[in-house]
Amino acid sequence: MSGGRDLWRPALYGRFADERSRPLRDLLGMLGSLDARGDGSARRGVALDLGCGTGEGTSWLAERSGCATTIGLDTSAAMLERAPRDLPGLHFVRGDIAAPPLRGPVDVLFSNAALHWLPDHPALLARLTGLVAPGGRLAVQVPGNHRHPSQRVAVEVAREEPFASLLGGFVRESPVLEPERYVEILHGLGFTDLDVRVVVYPHLLPEPADVVGWVRGTTLTDYERRLPEQAYARFLERYREALLAVLPDERPCLFTFRRVFFAARRPG
Ligand SMILES: C[S@@+](CC[C@H](N)C(=O)[O-])C[C@H]1O[C@@H](n2cnc3c(N)ncnc32)[C@H](O)[C@@H]1O
Repeated sequence: MSGGRDLWRPALYGRFADERSRPLRDLLGMLGSLDARGDGSARRGVALDLGCGTGEGTSWLAERSGCATTIGLDTSAAMLERAPRDLPGLHFVRGDIAAPPLRGPVDVLFSNAALHWLPDHPALLARLTGLVAPGGRLAVQVPGNHRHPSQRVAVEVAREEPFASLLGGFVRESPVLEPERYVEILHGLGFTDLDVRVVVYPHLLPEPADVVGWVRGTTLTDYERRLPEQAYARFLERYREALLAVLPDERPCLFTFRRVFFAARRPG
């Protein structure tokens, strides 16, 4: 994640809470299937949720992981402010996935819809492997929707003037790889019990403009962070115009969302 202003808005992000909770539950389900192959013993150890946001998934993780302690880590103070408090064994820490403030390796390393904010996934996964204890589990979901018009149009608008100059040539390109690459990378890092999946979620939003609202709360924050306020308002307007010109004008609007999941175990 690039530094600077905290542009995560829990209310905007939470507008699509139902749609976003489906992949989160599916990821927890994958963790459950890894657990079924494990020793299934009583609660012990530590689970870490990287990029935990408002922590809803972290509390579900605490229930499902079998760990005695669950930590949610996020850079956004605004998101963490909404995190549940006073639940036994559940803690939230402000910090960066790139340099997690941890005392030792964890038994479950979990991340839902966050690692796409970090570049170079082969190098990132190599670093994160060091955080997983021997016998520990990894479960990650990242959006792989970069070929959808909602993402392509953002890149196209960023390449238009005056935005290209104002952004100094920056365009947000997704670091998310094809699923086969995650199989190769995890295998190469020595993980076993590999489970890599692609799921395309068929979200039905009330109208096409809601796709703009969705992307505004996530991908577009990377442009908002880099543009002066007035210029970002123009960027958003241009994005809306260009995206609505290519999306089918239907109500409800079908918003297909491709996501890549991977889960694995580190040998004991
Ligand atoms: C799309 S939200 C997902 C939140 C949560 N995992 C969920 O499933 O609802 C992405 C979160 O990742 C966090 N994030 C992005 N880059 C990060 C980084 N380098 N270190 C820690 N958190 C990061 C953001 O602050 C944001 O809360």
